[in-house]
Amino acid sequence: MSVIDILRLGPVMPVLVIDDLSHAVPLARALVAGGIRVLEVTLRTPVALDAVRAMCAAVPDAVVGVGTLTSPQDLADSKAAGAVFGVSPGLTASLLEAARQTGLPLLPGTMTPSDVMTARAAGLTACKLFPAAVAGGVAMLKALYGPFADMSFCPTGGIDAASAPQYLALPNVACVGGSWLAPKALVQAGDWPAITALAKAASRLR
Ligand code: 3PG
Repeated sequence: MSVIDILRLGPVMPVLVIDDLSHAVPLARALVAGGIRVLEVTLRTPVALDAVRAMCAAVPDAVVGVGTLTSPQDLADSKAAGAVFGVSPGLTASLLEAARQTGLPLLPGTMTPSDVMTARAAGLTACKLFPAAVAGGVAMLKALYGPFADMSFCPTGGIDAASAPQYLALPNVACVGGSWLAPKALVQAGDWPAITALAKAASRLR
């Protein structure tokens, strides 16, 4: 599946920070039960790659990617763990090259027109806008649509259930990313029904 096909599977891609490996599978199940299948597991904790392996093995309906990739090694490790796509906060020549070599679909972070041009020149049609709210939010995406009407975005960073619909109404937004579907307190409490309820609400956003 290409990045754009993955992004279009749902309106919201949850950004997950998994501290405890035992949370990985129930968290993925809770999100999928709420209709949210595309999951970004950030490489910010020591158990992240094990979490990806566990989710891929136990939750076949989940489409699991790895986020916070910053090096070619991160990308290779993610692919080996079973991730079907990668997400980066930024865009570097070495990451683009590693994605090309490994064949792992990459959603690179962009924040400027030059970043978008670099991604497009590499053959990509979808980028993350990060950090979206700080980068100008909805107004920035409207401005990018002028010169880059052929590019789709997954804005992430500072978006929540209240602001997501404004982003999702834009023609160049494929989906939005955000951490609000898996709040730390609910994950640590193991309140999976509450997370399923958040996912159900998010899956109805568009
Ligand atoms: C992140 O970096 O954690 C993501 O961009 C999510 O941001 P958010 O917590 O503002 O949704």
